[in-house]
This record gives sequence, C-alpha cells and structure tokens, in this order.
Amino acid sequence: MFASLLVVTLGLCYCRQDSNQTFLGIPQLIGPSEAVLGLIATFKCVVPNHTKNESVLLQLFNKDKDTWLEHRTTLTSAPTVSRTHYLRVVEGVKEAHIVVPSGPVEFFQGQSLELLCEITAGNNVSYKWLQNGRLISPSPSLHLSDNRLFISRTTSENTGYYTCMASDYFNHTVLSNSTSPDVEIRVKDVVSAPNISFTVLKEDSYNYSAVVTCESASGTRPVTFSLYNRTELVANVTSDNRRAVFKLPLVLDQYSGELQCNADNGAQAAHSQWLPFEVVSVGGPVTMHYDSDIGENFAVIGLRLYCKAAKGSHPRYQWFLNKTLLRDRGSFYYVVDQPPERSILLLSVGRSSAGTYRCQVSDSFDNATAMSSGKRYLDKEVLNRLPVLVVAVVFGCFTTLILLVSVCYCVGVVYNGGLEMERMAVAYEDDLEICEYGEDAGVVRSARGGEFDQTSEASADEWPQIAEQKKTLEDETFEAL
Ligand SMILES: *[C@@H]1O[C@H](CO)[C@@H](O)[C@H](O)[C@H]1NC(C)=O
Ligand SMILES: *[C@@H]1O[C@H](CO)[C@@H](O)[C@H](O)[C@H]1NC(C)=O
Ligand SMILES: *[C@@H]1O[C@H](CO)[C@@H](O)[C@H](O)[C@H]1NC(C)=O
Ligand SMILES: *[C@@H]1O[C@H](CO)[C@@H](O)[C@H](O)[C@H]1NC(C)=O
Ligand SMILES: *[C@@H]1O[C@H](CO)[C@@H](O)[C@H](O)[C@H]1NC(C)=O
Ligand SMILES: *[C@@H]1O[C@H](CO)[C@@H](O)[C@H](O)[C@H]1NC(C)=O
Ligand SMILES: *[C@@H]1O[C@H](CO)[C@@H](O)[C@H](O)[C@H]1NC(C)=O
Ligand SMILES: *[C@@H]1O[C@H](CO)[C@@H](O)[C@H](O)[C@H]1NC(C)=O
Ligand SMILES: *[C@@H]1O[C@H](CO)[C@@H](O)[C@H](O)[C@H]1NC(C)=O
Ligand SMILES: *[C@@H]1O[C@H](CO)[C@@H](O)[C@H](O)[C@H]1NC(C)=O
Ligand SMILES: *[C@@H]1O[C@H](CO)[C@@H](O)[C@H](O)[C@H]1NC(C)=O
Ligand SMILES: *[C@@H]1O[C@H](CO)[C@@H](O)[C@H](O)[C@H]1NC(C)=O
Repeated sequence: MFASLLVVTLGLCYCRQDSNQTFLGIPQLIGPSEAVLGLIATFKCVVPNHTKNESVLLQLFNKDKDTWLEHRTTLTSAPTVSRTHYLRVVEGVKEAHIVVPSGPVEFFQGQSLELLCEITAGNNVSYKWLQNGRLISPSPSLHLSDNRLFISRTTSENTGYYTCMASDYFNHTVLSNSTSPDVEIRVKDVVSAPNISFTVLKEDSYNYSAVVTCESASGTRPVTFSLYNRTELVANVTSDNRRAVFKLPLVLDQYSGELQCNADNGAQAAHSQWLPFEVVSVGGPVTMHYDSDIGENFAVIGLRLYCKAAKGSHPRYQWFLNKTLLRDRGSFYYVVDQPPERSILLLSVGRSSAGTYRCQVSDSFDNATAMSSGKRYLDKEVLNRLPVLVVAVVFGCFTTLILLVSVCYCVGVVYNGGLEMERMAVAYEDDLEICEYGEDAGVVRSARGGEFDQTSEASADEWPQIAEQKKTLEDETFEAL
C-alpha cells in the first residue's frame, strides 16, 4: 500500500584524505529525521578534531541506492564512515477511497459490514469515518482500527452515506488530508408479518366484493404481497407503502375457504394468519339485556346494556334513546363495540338518561338489513322500583303458597274467609305473570340478590377500557346525584 513510502537510509558520511594516512575522526551526519517530499532538507557532514591543513573528501551516500562498498574497495587510503542516518520522507496523502470487501452495498439487517479506506499515496496516515457527514465513534458493535471500519450486526440505522478521511501528519500537525467520495450503504429491514382483514363492498343488489387488506408494520419497501387460499396464489402486488389491497368476488353466507397474506421484500417471506373467508349476514333475533351497578343505599347508579344479534359476521350496532341515535359517547353514556359479538352501552343513571332504549343491528355493508331489538323504558324510578316489585312478587308467591296450604287444610271450615283469600291469590298471580313476562332474566336475577355475583361475573370479561369508563361514569353519577 505504501508503495511510495520513502524511508531512506540516507547518508553514510564518508571522509577520505587524499595525501597521507593521517588518522581522521569518525564523521558525523546531522540532519532531520523527516522531510516533506519536494521540500529541501539540509544535512551536515562534520569531521571532528580536523585541524590540520589538509583537504578532505566528503561524500554522502544513499545506502539503499549507491554501491558505496565498491567505492571503498577501490580506495587507496582508509576512509572513515559515519553512522547510518534514517530519513523519512513524508508524502502528502492522495485519493482516499472506500472499498467494500464484502461486496454489495445493499443487504439485510443482521449481516456484518466491512469498509476499508484506501489511499494511493501517503504515509503515517490516520483515518476518520463519517456517516452522513457526522463523525463515527466506536461502539460495542462498531469497530475502528487503522483504515478499517467493521460493524458486526447491522441495523437500518447503519444506512447512509459513508466517507473516510485520511490525514497524514508531519511534525505533529496535519500535513495533508484526503476525503473519499461517498459510498451509499443500504441496510434493509426484513418485513414484519402482515396482518390481514377484509371489508365487504356491496356492488349492486346482487354482487358483493371483499376488499382484503394486508399490512406490515415494518420492513424496507418495496414489499411484494401475495394472497393465497389453501390451494393456490390468488393475487400478488408490489407495494411502496407496506400495504396491499385486493378485491375478490364474494358470495354471502357461503364459506369460501381461508386466506393468507405473504409479505416479501427480498429476505424471507413473512406470513399472516389464516383468515376465514366467509361473510354471514346479520340475522335475528336481536336481543338487548343489561346488568347494573349498585351504589350506596342499594340504588342503581350505572347500567351496562348489551346488544347481540343471533348471527352476523360484519354487524354494525346502533343504539337509540327515544329515537335519537347515540354515537360513540355523550355526557351520560359511552358505546363500546366488541364486533362482531356484541355492543355495550354504558350508562350512568340520572335524569338525562331516562327514556326508551333499543338497539339496532345491520350488516356493516348494507343498511337495508337493519333489525331492531325490543324497546325498554329505563329511568331511575323504574330501576329502583324493580327490586321492590320483585320482593312483592316473591312475597306474594310465598303468601299464595301458604294460603293454598291453608285452603287445603281449612277447606269448608271458614267459607267466607276462604273466598277472600282466593281473590288475593288471583291478584298475586297477575304479578307472577309480570315476573315471567320479563324477557330480561337479568332483572329477576339482580332482584334476587345476585347483584354481587353478577358484578364480579361482568368484571371478569370487562375490558380495561370499560372498567375505566365505568369508574368515570360512577364519578359523573356522584356529581349528578
Ligand atoms: C606523509 O607524512 C609523512 C610524515 O608524517 C611524510 O614523511 C610523507 O612524505 C607524507 N607522504 C605524502 C604522500 O605526503
Ligand atoms: C578530539 O580531540 C580531543 C583531544 O585532542 C580528544 O579528546 C577527542 O576525543 C577528539 N575527538 C574525536 C571525535 O576524535
Ligand atoms: C594551508 O596550505 C596552503 C597550501 O597548501 C597554504 O597556502 C596555507 O597558507 C596553509 N594554511 C595554514 C593555516 O597553514
Ligand atoms: C516542528 O514544529 C515546531 C513547532 O511546532 C517547529 O518549531 C519545528 O521547527 C518544526 N520542525 C520541523 C522539522 O518542521
Ligand atoms: C505520525 O502520525 C501520528 C498520528 O497518527 C503522530 O502522532 C506522529 O507524531 C506522526 N509522526 C511524526 C513523526 O510526525
Ligand atoms: C484537510 O485539508 C484541508 C486543506 O487541504 C484543510 O482545510 C482542512 O482543515 C483539513 N482537515 C482536517 C480535518 O485536518
Ligand atoms: C352482478 O351480477 C349480475 C348477475 O348476477 C351480473 O350480470 C353482473 O355482471 C354482476 N356485476 C358485477 C359488477 O359483477
Ligand atoms: C394492521 O397493521 C397495521 C400496521 O401495524 C395497523 O396500522 C393496522 O391497524 C392493522 N390492522 C388490523 C386490522 O389489525
Ligand atoms: C405475481 O407476480 C409475478 C411477478 O412478480 C407475476 O409474474 C405473476 O403473474 C403474478 N401473479 C399473479 C397471480 O398476479
Ligand atoms: C382458491 O382460489 C381459486 C381461484 O382463485 C379457486 O379456484 C379455488 O377453488 C380456491 N381454493 C380454495 C380452497 O378456496
Ligand atoms: C325520552 O322520552 C321520555 C318520555 O317518553 C322523556 O321522559 C325523556 O326525558 C326523554 N329522554 C330524552 C333523553 O329525551
Ligand atoms: C348507510 O349508512 C351510512 C352511514 O350511516 C350512510 O352514509 C349511508 O347513506 C347509508 N346508506 C343507505 C343506503 O341507507
């Protein structure tokens, strides 16, 4: 590499006396140990103690180039020779350039990278590396030594423009430097596993399409997405935004196999999960039930209303209060959709939340399929009266039983009293009918003192969000009360 390195064993100062064999002292060669190429360096050859009036021949030899030994053998008198003096000729550094021994400048993360900074001329050179103009310092995964840069495990952060700067020093200062041209290194991220989902598009009254979306969160672009069913490649596309959309014909209520997306950006392909390719249209009945949160004094302060359709893979749920659509959240409610299973309406019980509730389910791709649940009037009084009512019913049933037993025992004994009791029994049976009519089992259950079981049951499958929201609602309720 340092072909032009000029370490010259300059000078063997050689002295010869022409006339006589008089002893001459050992000559001394004095000069700099380094010199810059092209500049003048001064050397002295001194013969000490030479006081006699005699002529002395002094010669300077380059030990590497001159055949000084031959000179000596032809001499008649004995010459004296100085010690060898080394001269380093410092040459300006020239044409630094980066060499990538590993080959490609574009590769995937995790591979190692080696860069060498080479120069065509220069010595006593030191090297600096820059990435995008900023000085690179060593780190556990990045080693710098002499003219070499080595990264053991590359990441996409190592992508950039690399330059090296070679400087050579003379007398402890930079004599010259040379900066290499840029080399662009591209470290690509392996694409992450895509997710897959689809929405349904109603083309006209007969035809539906599935719009399948595959998306990867990370990975260097472009990415080629391929959509497979269990048997073959359905479609493929190369995307510049890590996202691909495929449109497939769709038949409702028919199982059409499973779909999977593959994403590939040159390393190994990443697969999505298998997605059942089936759209079940919404079907009834649509049921609405609720459970309640009991505050102090056993008053109902919060409600969770659940809406559920008997079937449907792409349902859209809507909640109505007095014919007004309740969107997302309001001052006293919050809608939590858990598609496709159900939707939850969280309510704080107060004056503003009183009214008639119902929920409606339709196919998300077709409003025409809307189906409604039964209606239910809810307010504070209704909710808090219910336990009293049921207590009355239970009490009524119990009383009726006692009365019937009494009637059995006392039949024919007290005729007038028996007649009255029968009338009472009829009245209590009416109450019982109300109890059975209530399609909402939750009401009966909660009234039977199962609130605590229910509450814990509900909290088991609550989302953290709901729990949080419930708390908020309770707080709001406290304020409202
Ligand atoms: C050398 O010196 C000696 C005296 O020291 C003298 O006699 C002789 O002539 C000299 N020789 C020459 C060649 O000058
Ligand atoms: C020079 O001469 C002195 C005395 O005359 C002597 O001591 C010294 O060693 C000599 N130097 C050399 C380099 O011959
Ligand atoms: C040295 O020798 C030359 C002739 O060879 C003479 O001219 C000169 O004067 C001498 N010098 C001394 C100091 O002896
Ligand atoms: C080296 O540098 C010093 C000052 O930094 C200077 O005095 C000296 O002359 C220099 N030597 C050479 C050989 O250039
Ligand atoms: C050679 O270079 C180093 C720095 O790389 C410097 O410290 C040293 O002084 C240089 N040698 C000379 C003789 O200048
Ligand atoms: C490199 O050399 C140029 C002149 O050739 C000089 O301006 C620059 O400061 C030097 N850079 C360094 C880091 O020594
Ligand atoms: C929709 O279906 C009808 C008949 O079922 C067919 O003739 C028509 O081409 C379809 N349209 C589209 C856009 O697929
Ligand atoms: C799929 O992944 C992308 C990127 O991480 C994300 O933005 C998107 O919400 C995901 N979609 C689904 C349906 O999970
Ligand atoms: C998938 O892409 C390749 C080129 O990348 C193309 O030759 C092939 O026809 C494509 N297949 C489908 C089903 O689009
Ligand atoms: C896969 O798709 C092709 C057409 O794209 C279809 O002919 C084939 O029946 C499908 N296979 C399955 C298992 O769905
Ligand atoms: C809903 O209607 C009832 C009467 O049917 C009324 O008392 C209640 O205030 C209404 N609620 C809202 C929020 O408008
Ligand atoms: C279906 O509902 C959406 C959103 O509520 C609305 O924008 C659209 O116009 C409705 N379409 C029909 C046919 O009612």
